[in-house]
This record gives sequence, C-alpha cells and structure tokens, in this order.
Amino acid sequence: MDSGQHIDKIKLNRWLNIRKTTLKEINKRLKNKINFEITLDNCESLDSYTASVVANYLEIEPIKIKKNTFNPIFLYSSKSDIERTRRPIKKDGIHFYNYYTLPTPKGYVSPVLLDIMCPKNKLPKLNNGHLEPAITISMGPSDIHARFSKKLNKDTWIKFKINKDPKTKWVVGSSYFEPSFCKHTYSQAENGLGRIISYTTRSNIETLCMEKLNNNSYNNLININKNKKINRTLLKLEIESKGYSIEEISKKINVPYEKVKNFFKNRTSTLEKKYIIKLCKFINSDPTLFLDRNFKEDTVGKSYLDYKDSLKTIRKYKSYKVASIANSIRFPDLSGFFMKVSNLKKPYINDLFDSKCSHYFVTGGDIKIHIRENDKNTSKKIREGDCLWVSAFTHHGFTGSGSMLKISDGQNINYLEKEDLINTYNVNNFLKRAKNDIKNWGYDE
Ligand SMILES: [Fe+2]
Repeated sequence: MDSGQHIDKIKLNRWLNIRKTTLKEINKRLKNKINFEITLDNCESLDSYTASVVANYLEIEPIKIKKNTFNPIFLYSSKSDIERTRRPIKKDGIHFYNYYTLPTPKGYVSPVLLDIMCPKNKLPKLNNGHLEPAITISMGPSDIHARFSKKLNKDTWIKFKINKDPKTKWVVGSSYFEPSFCKHTYSQAENGLGRIISYTTRSNIETLCMEKLNNNSYNNLININKNKKINRTLLKLEIESKGYSIEEISKKINVPYEKVKNFFKNRTSTLEKKYIIKLCKFINSDPTLFLDRNFKEDTVGKSYLDYKDSLKTIRKYKSYKVASIANSIRFPDLSGFFMKVSNLKKPYINDLFDSKCSHYFVTGGDIKIHIRENDKNTSKKIREGDCLWVSAFTHHGFTGSGSMLKISDGQNINYLEKEDLINTYNVNNFLKRAKNDIKNWGYDE
C-alpha cells in the first residue's frame, strides 16, 4: 500500500511559483494521466505515481517536492552504542584500524573514532587522501605517529602527542586541520593503543565537482586556471561576464594595461589591493571574494597544533574553561575546542547557542546536558566515551564535572550560506516567509 507523503504542499507551491504555472493548468494538462483533481489540500496524500507525474510535468526530480524529514534537535550515542559500530580494517597485511561512527543525522558525513593498531616498529602505509576536509585529534591514551607523505620530514612524520599532565589533561592532545586529498596514515608511537577522532565533513564544492558541471565545463575550468590563482581567474571571468575587457577595465581604474594583464596571467605578478578594490567597485562586485589570500599551513597543506600550544590558549568561556584545537580559514565551518565543565552548584544551565551544528565527545567525568526546545527542557546524563550531536541555533548547556571535545561543522548551515544570509535584502522578513511560504506567485485564483 502506497502511504502518500510523496509531495510537500509548500514545496509544490514553490515550484508552481518558479515554473509560473498553476494547479488549474497542471490538472488540465495531466487529465489523461490522473483521474482526479490535485489541490494543495490533497497533494500530500497522493501516491508515488501521481507525485512522479507532477514532478515530470514540472521538469524536476520528484525529490524536489518530497516532504522533508527534518534533522533532530539532538542525537545521543552511549559509549556502548559507539562500540557496536566497530569495524576492523585490514591494511598492508595487518589489522590496521578499528573504525567507530559517531552519531549524525541521516545522510550527513560522519566523524569517526579510530583505534590505531599499526605497531610502532612498522612504517604505516599511506592512504590516498579523501575529498572531505577534516580536523583530526589525538585522543590517547598513548602517543601515535602521523605520516603524510612517502618522504619523511618534519611536516610529514609527526609524533601526534597526548597531554599526560593530570592537571590539564582535559586538553587531551594535539590536533591538525587536513585539507581535501591530503594523504595520511597513523601508527603507534609507544607500546599501547592510540586513538584519534577524525572529524571528516562534507566539502562545500563536492556537488559542484561531481554533479553540477558537465565534463566539458569541468575540464575547461581546470584548463583556464592552469598555473594561475583561482581568485584571479574567477575575477577575470567576472569582469568579462559584466561585459568589460581587461584593456577597458585597466583604463577605467587608471592602471597600465600590461600590469593588469600580467596580474591575471602570472601567479607572481602583483596588483595593489586598492586597485583590485577599485576594479571590483567599478563592476559592482564584492572585492572580498576576489582578493589574494594567505593561508597558514605547511608543505602538505595541513595546519598542526601541538597540545602544548593548545594549553597556551586555555581561557574562560561562559560557565566553562576551553582551549583551542586546530582550524583553518581554508574551511571556516570546521572548528572546535576542548572544554572543561565544572558546574556543580546549578542544576540547570543553558548558556550555549551556536551558528553551527556540533558534536560533543565526553573525555571524562559525569556531565549532564540540558537542551531547550521551545518551552521544553530535556536533560540527559552523559559519561566518558558518550557522544552527542546538537543542531545549530539550539539553546543548550552542561552541568556536573568533566571534560569534552566539541567540534562543529557546516552541514547544518555552512559559511557560504552565512555569506548569502548577510547579502539577503530584508533578511528577517525573508526568513519569516521562506520556510512555510504558501502564497502563490500572484495570479487570480
Ligand atoms: Fe581520513
């Protein structure tokens, strides 16, 4: 039996608006295929056949008008739930890792916890890297080695250390940001188990690369940026898409044509920032998108933070103590900190609210999380090895005594969406209307 829920009336209404058509028109066009009248009142109980006929008429995939299953407010997995996800991985002829999955909403890229099994006397075999950027944290109990290239040097063979000082061990270990396709592998550095949390997340350009651009466009993008800087390539195309030649624009900003031409042609040529701003203002484009950038990173593209440097960042934050972990402006969505909770007097605290979704991994003690949803408060005891996922823009807080690792990513809302929110005209009205908009595009009923 077909249970309906193949169409969401708000989404259907939006696609009627986008396609500048009406239900009356759809019913007329589809009367040979559907023997009843579709209305906004009955559309949510239609069978999958009818939903696909409607989607086909609107020239969209049925998923575009399908009812959402919304992400939860929060998810919880106990230590034993996480242990049950364990899968051993063989590599280089040995038991190399155990992988465990941390709780995440359906369809999300999930962070993983790994046991490092490769013994210290064996050079660990490299992987091929992956598309997803990540922050990786050494979780102990023992130090491990991290390797990032065939050739070993100070950037590519690192003792990935654990803080063993009982006074500050809530700042658990060293961490690093890993860009897409950075090769990596790990082995034990002592005679004992080492663990890492590999906080892999979705790349914001995955869909661009894998779905949106056809092969011809994709190959042309690669070719046009060969030996060039992508911000300059995109700026040149932006200038051209607004109907200006480089020759013309250099006259407009009063800079010799050769200089502007070379800036776009050679990576090493320069053009003063004030001229790039002037140029962007002239074509009415946002200069911050196109300026040259500098990133703090080493020869394999990672940025590493030794736990001793994390210790130097210990600070008070709201009712907690925190210390930074590695992060990079190459991928601003990924960030986090070690967190110490020492709130024994108050039974309820609700002082955290983030513009990102977050994972909390309990590294010690007895803590209680408090989450507020509308007028409802939920509290839950959490212990060492437990893990939580909390949605963005959710009031929550912790009481009790213990320590956690908090890491946030952009899968709920990413920095590109934040930029778009910032650019949106009358954003508060926009937000009020956008989610449940059932207004038609303005025709006589
Ligand atoms: Fe990885």
